[in-house]
Amino acid sequence: MGANKIDHVVIPGTFDPVTYGHLDVIERAWRLFPKVTVGVAASRGKRGVGTAFTLDERVAMLRDALDYEGIGDEVEVLPFEGLLVDFCREIGARGVVKGLRAMTDFEYELQQSALNTRLAPEIESVYVMSASEYGFVSSSIVRELASFGSDVRFLVPPNVAAELRDHYAK
Ligand code: PNS
Repeated sequence: MGANKIDHVVIPGTFDPVTYGHLDVIERAWRLFPKVTVGVAASRGKRGVGTAFTLDERVAMLRDALDYEGIGDEVEVLPFEGLLVDFCREIGARGVVKGLRAMTDFEYELQQSALNTRLAPEIESVYVMSASEYGFVSSSIVRELASFGSDVRFLVPPNVAAELRDHYAK
């Protein structure tokens, strides 16, 4: 029995860019599971549009943000291309952890977890509730505010706020 326990999970996402909402989910997963890998998807995310930041930029921002949160040494960040379940199998992870903010997330996540379970029944999907103060936070809201020159330091760590300022100053 013990050998079947999930000891390694992936937190997947586009992270375009990482927000305090993501970091809250990552910290919760880090408390729950012995090994946590953040998987940064090379592809375009759920809305099918291109990303504002390159894959390398998104990975680097996440690594710096995790260092800032003090868990950079314990959580690995890896880019992945293709299917999430293939990535999980490749690195030996048997769980996927995601955050749920509101009912609007639920339908999409239900579909994704059903599909992933069909593709890889041995990989469990686990959902954690976002902290209420981050229930409204999304990367797209952060990008929109930053594009209008708003200070987004209440939504993202300092390194990400600086990257956003540079990005939209161009
Ligand atoms: O941060 P996002 O945009 O909500 O993340 C979505 C993500 C990357 C988790 C999702 O699009 C994903 O798992 N992409 C990898 C491709 C895949 O496995 N898709 C599910 C089966 S179609």
